[in-house]
Amino acid sequence: MAADAANRGDFAQALPMLSHALAIDSEATAPAYAELLSHLSLTSWPRQLEADLVTCLNAGAVDPQTLARAAARMLLVKYPEPVVAGDALWEAFLTRCINVDPAMEVRLIWLAGQDLPDGLRDALAVQAFASEYVWGGERLGVPADAMVELAEELVLAVEMPSLESSFPRRRPGPRLESCDAESGPRPSPGKEEEEDAGRRISGAVRAQYETNPYPRWRAPAARQHVSVSAHLAALGAPQEQPLAVLVAGCGTGFEPIDLAGMDKSLAITALDLSAASLAYGKRMAGVLGVERVRFVQGDILDVEALGQRFGLVNCTGVLHHMERPEDGLAALVEVLEPGGVLRLALYSERARAWVAEARRVIGEQGWDANPAGIRAFRAYVFALPPEQPLARLRESDDFYSLSGCRDLCFHVREHWYRLPAVQEMLAGAGLELLMLDAPPEAQHCFTQLFGTAGDRRDLGLWDRVEGTYPHLFAGMFHLWARKPG
Ligand SMILES: C[S@@+](CC[C@H](N)C(=O)[O-])C[C@H]1O[C@@H](n2cnc3c(N)ncnc32)[C@H](O)[C@@H]1O
Repeated sequence: MAADAANRGDFAQALPMLSHALAIDSEATAPAYAELLSHLSLTSWPRQLEADLVTCLNAGAVDPQTLARAAARMLLVKYPEPVVAGDALWEAFLTRCINVDPAMEVRLIWLAGQDLPDGLRDALAVQAFASEYVWGGERLGVPADAMVELAEELVLAVEMPSLESSFPRRRPGPRLESCDAESGPRPSPGKEEEEDAGRRISGAVRAQYETNPYPRWRAPAARQHVSVSAHLAALGAPQEQPLAVLVAGCGTGFEPIDLAGMDKSLAITALDLSAASLAYGKRMAGVLGVERVRFVQGDILDVEALGQRFGLVNCTGVLHHMERPEDGLAALVEVLEPGGVLRLALYSERARAWVAEARRVIGEQGWDANPAGIRAFRAYVFALPPEQPLARLRESDDFYSLSGCRDLCFHVREHWYRLPAVQEMLAGAGLELLMLDAPPEAQHCFTQLFGTAGDRRDLGLWDRVEGTYPHLFAGMFHLWARKPG
């Protein structure tokens, strides 16, 4: 009933019901409640709502990052003036989320300069670590270097056992993780020279992610069981059991760890170029008690050397960072079982038009892809009037950590796509499209243009939808495709 009320947008009815249910069974209720809270725009500070928000932030079944905006807004409404006041909401917000609110960033910078009680100082240190000291102190008249110094001091001063297992906290700071992931596939003799340009780019991409592993994340939701095999069967591509999954370009391990939590029957291999990213993933797997992910360091171009076939390959936000994405795709198709499924996500050219503008400004100003350049760029964006197109960067979660901001606007290589080109690339690799996994808003726009009978597997039609509503795929094109059996 509460869910029905929430779906109707009747928050006044849904909230008390969810609040009551949360008090009885917090783990079962928290995901639905958190979903509702993440959409609320808070303008007042009801005490019960605050208590419920804290419960949801700490619930294992909720990804706390989905509540980062709601928690920041509630804290700013609760404390309209800067004051040093520790409470459960501050602690849950600072230790479980990475801030993504511009006004809250100013408050955090202010807090870092105060004499704080131990609990609040420790929580702020965890926040500083998680966002990689991204805060630009100049917004409060503190020189950037002094701000970094302050944030590093905070981190160095406190005990953070859950963050410490595989990285040193001494300067130059805890950004570099040491890795004991398996070293994986190597290029076969001769192949290395053949694909020189591709490997050069892999080297540059690797260097970026060694310095700035991506994404920064704190905790995935402990999911209720979802059978990945049943999902693939429903897509018309049933797989042999047990299902072997490759996460190609796993970054810092959120995806494989999330998958492992979702379906305990999966045998997961997580591959990435970057040792630092893999170390982040291994550390988090250890913290979260996930044992069934095999982390391997290597290049997708050499994936065949793993000597294994997979029923599912997940490759999200990776191929567009290769010199020739079609070479990466061909290599992944080689390791798919006949009939196996590829889940792919690629950047949309239209949705990233404003990133092109950001890159133009960065080039013009000569800002380098290092902490000073990234902070200078952020200061520029924060100073823009809200009506400027680039000001919308302030709404992007990635804007709020050094690695995220670098991934978003300073990447060493990226390709952008229109859907007809994606269709061609899939066909060129011999894959059949199963579906474009479009978000609900995009599905709604499709129905408006082509009715319910329009063929949703026709990427040409989807391209026309995107032409009309260019922002729809800001979260990338997500596609499922199948290798013929
Ligand atoms: C934007 S991150 C995406 C991480 C992850 N898929 C996610 O969505 O959370 C891109 C990742 O792809 C990795 N990568 C890029 N090119 C690669 C290649 N040729 N082989 C293996 N990994 C690669 C990078 O090291 C980086 O960790």
